Amino acid sequence: TQFSSAAQDLLDWYDKHARQLPWRIGPQARKNGVMPDPYRVWLSEIMLQQTTVPHAAPYFEKFTTLWPNANELAEAENDDVMREWAGLGYYARARNLHKCAKALAELERFPDTIEGLLALPGVGPYTAAAVGAIAFDLPIAPVDGNVERVISRLMTIGGDGSATGWAADKKEITQCVQALVPKRSGDFAQAMMDLGSGVCTPKSPNCGQCPWAKYCLAHREGNMESYPAKAKR
Ligand code: ADE
Repeated sequence: TQFSSAAQDLLDWYDKHARQLPWRIGPQARKNGVMPDPYRVWLSEIMLQQTTVPHAAPYFEKFTTLWPNANELAEAENDDVMREWAGLGYYARARNLHKCAKALAELERFPDTIEGLLALPGVGPYTAAAVGAIAFDLPIAPVDGNVERVISRLMTIGGDGSATGWAADKKEITQCVQALVPKRSGDFAQAMMDLGSGVCTPKSPNCGQCPWAKYCLAHREGNMESYPAKAKR
């Protein structure tokens, strides 16, 4: 089909341009069989639901220094966890984080299935998919706002004037990206995040640097900023 080489082209781009992030294992190391610590992937995803990469990074460093694994975090005083979270906002998330660490501490190992991940406190479909793909290469694509924008543009799903409504558009986006997921699903997930944050930006996307420009239907229309639909929520 028209998108059959898209995932591989994105992975080739990611091999060259992957951001180095404190919680990330780069594509070369992953090809050599190194996988990230699921605790660190989970912690980073909870923080990144709340804030940007540059804002989250120092918090991530501090948390993982103080509490290098789920058992240590589980045994922390709740006041200490809340204090270190201060500045990240939305304190219900910090409370859930601590609750989840306590749940993890009761388990023999970190859950490595979507169902197991979804059973953890504070872990919803997005976080389960992100941790599942990044930490375990489960064949699933996490869909956040960045991925919605990238896929909406790639396949011109649900732009301004969409007749179907955002819920239906989002469902279609989720199905379409899921159909693209390659064997390297963890790198694919992270490549989508890098593409969405650095190239396929909400305003003035850098299509000249995009590995998907040749496939992108919104780019072909010259209408990138009409996707996804504005005021969608
Ligand atoms: N946004 C959400 N999760 C992310 C991740 N793992 N890396 C970079 N940006 C992200």
